[in-house]
Amino acid sequence: HGGHAQEILQRVLPGGRLLGLDVDPLELPRTKERLRSLGYGPEQFSVWRSNFAGLPQVLARADLAGADVILADLGVSSMQLDNPARGFSIKQDGPLDMRMNPARGQGAAAWLQKIEPAKLARLFQENADEPRAELLATALAGKVFLTTLSLASAIRAALPRLPNEETELSVRRVFQALRIAVNEEFSALETFLRHLPSCLNPGGRVAILTFHSGEDRRVKKSFAARLEAQLFSEIAREVIRPGAAERNANPRSISAKLRWARRAA
Ligand SMILES: C[S@@+](CC[C@H](N)C(=O)[O-])C[C@H]1O[C@@H](n2cnc3c(N)ncnc32)[C@H](O)[C@@H]1O
Repeated sequence: HGGHAQEILQRVLPGGRLLGLDVDPLELPRTKERLRSLGYGPEQFSVWRSNFAGLPQVLARADLAGADVILADLGVSSMQLDNPARGFSIKQDGPLDMRMNPARGQGAAAWLQKIEPAKLARLFQENADEPRAELLATALAGKVFLTTLSLASAIRAALPRLPNEETELSVRRVFQALRIAVNEEFSALETFLRHLPSCLNPGGRVAILTFHSGEDRRVKKSFAARLEAQLFSEIAREVIRPGAAERNANPRSISAKLRWARRAA
């Protein structure tokens, strides 16, 4: 709950302020409460229930022309993943939902029931690089899976005999692909990337933490294009990855990649 926010606040205070954006109406109040209990008042830390794609509107409502630093930490949080009621978990059963904002759109079960196999196969490939995309899409599209574990069992049953590790990787990839689709994560990321230069103050910096190749490809491509257009003066040459100590302490950081860029002055 707001681990990055806490670290950033320690560095920008006194004098700075931090705006925290998240689409999740369930976890956001908990983060707000935690940071308030640490003594950060609304002038120092404000929370905004917003998609990252809506950053320009949030800045305007906060009366800010731009930010000096933007950090985007993409994907799902441990709090979301570990709460079976949210429908992201392959370990504990729960309704097959996967919405970061359960008040908007339709959950994964309804979504899967309506989709055509060819479209689902494309999504498995694009959103998760799934090698058995067509086979899995044929087995899953149009079917009714009300719970996370019933979907996980159907994925395992659809695959040919494979080493257990391979099978479990496919289960994770299918869940990832569905989550990205249900939450329209790529279009949100693309809109956010498009708005970035105008949301940064001159000389301001952005860092984006991604968790899989579909996200990283988009960030890399967008930063390179902005550098070429001289909207950014500098971008990360290489991704920054967690070191051994961080990977041991926090295994979910293993797939994280960070890229940064600086807006031209
Ligand atoms: C990896 S977690 C970040 C955790 C946070 N850095 C912390 O320290 O507590 C990603 C968060 O981003 C949110 N999120 C993902 N995509 C989003 C988007 N397009 N717009 C707004 N929030 C998003 C999720 O709801 C989730 O809470």
